[in-house]
Amino acid sequence: MPDATHSFDALMDITARPKTVFVRGEGSWLWDDTGKRYLDFIQGWAVNCLGHSPAVLADALAAQAKLLITPSPAYYNDASLKLAHALVKQSCFDQVFFANSGAEANEGAIKLARKYGALHIITFEGGFHGRTLATMSASGKKAFEPLFEPKVPGFRKARLNDLASVEVLINKNTVAVMLEPIQGEAGVWPASDQFLRDLRALTEAHGLLLIFDEIQTGMGRTGKLFHYEHAEIVPDVMTLGKGIGGGVPLAALLATEKAACFEHGDQGGTFNGNPLMCAAGLAVLGEVGKPEFLKSTVDAGLFLESELQKLSARHGLGEVRGRGLLLALDLKLPIGAAIVAQAFEAGLLLNSPQPDALRFMPALNVTREEISAMIDGLDAILIKAGAARQVA
Ligand SMILES: Cc1ncc(COP(=O)(O)O)c(C=O)c1O
Repeated sequence: MPDATHSFDALMDITARPKTVFVRGEGSWLWDDTGKRYLDFIQGWAVNCLGHSPAVLADALAAQAKLLITPSPAYYNDASLKLAHALVKQSCFDQVFFANSGAEANEGAIKLARKYGALHIITFEGGFHGRTLATMSASGKKAFEPLFEPKVPGFRKARLNDLASVEVLINKNTVAVMLEPIQGEAGVWPASDQFLRDLRALTEAHGLLLIFDEIQTGMGRTGKLFHYEHAEIVPDVMTLGKGIGGGVPLAALLATEKAACFEHGDQGGTFNGNPLMCAAGLAVLGEVGKPEFLKSTVDAGLFLESELQKLSARHGLGEVRGRGLLLALDLKLPIGAAIVAQAFEAGLLLNSPQPDALRFMPALNVTREEISAMIDGLDAILIKAGAARQVA
């Protein structure tokens, strides 16, 4: 039975949510307070890379909580030093600043770029970088345009996969180009590897920083530990969030030696690099960074992609796009919200970032059986939706 003591009134009403209360999670599954089970292909918006409440993460948090939760960011702590070292060792970057959310990591990247040189950063139409004032201004999300004026100045928008649209915006005030290698919120639109290579060459030629927002694509989501590895380039700055904590609020700003230009007083925060979150990050990186883990993510991604393609062909839908376990299915019609609502009733958690697309971001250790169960559930919903269209 639902818990009658739950009242929804005390929380600010910032988004439409089903009046369901989740109380437990395990791997790809969630349970609500009535005992109903849901197959989760959202996973906290690509956050729980090891699924819900994995033992390795729960154990690391419990052990660290008993040892030391926070000594103050004015002092070093063991877990943050170890995690920074591990991230540097496994990436092309030299230094790390830990943050508590993706938006905060991106704010840090924007500040770093401004400190490095000038005011203007080129970002992209359709891009999403967070919900603080500067990251909303950096985003190219149409719905943000009328909100919270005046915007933070200094962001000019180019078009993804269109190098000339970037080139034309470069002037003496430009310091950086910042992008998501796959635009997630916009509906999973990938930058091509060639575009990323061309962008690297262009930014190098003009002495500009190249900033990768890998908050959604990083930590194995696209089959490599970091997405920039696919294009075989070295960005100057990268931000991580979501998957790096496996479900707890941890994010990171990474920079090469050249770009890591903060001086004392430029950046900081009460909870930044606290050992509890960094212990979680170490546990996650210990799993996701294993070559065999990444290989199984690639295999799962290819299986999900081919099953979605078959489903699309059966129902006359559009393309499947994305990489690894960040995929979208083009529905060709604005039926995303209706499908998500029916899936929820059927115990399947799906996301529709745009009216005509579904986005799939399961746990990176999702099984073939779970993928097949999701496809069967979606198939049944699409059959019903197709029948309704024929009757109408
Ligand atoms: C690419 C990208 N950047 C930044 C963010 C913001 O992260 P957070 O919600 O943790 O602030 C998100 C969140 O969806 C994202 O997908």
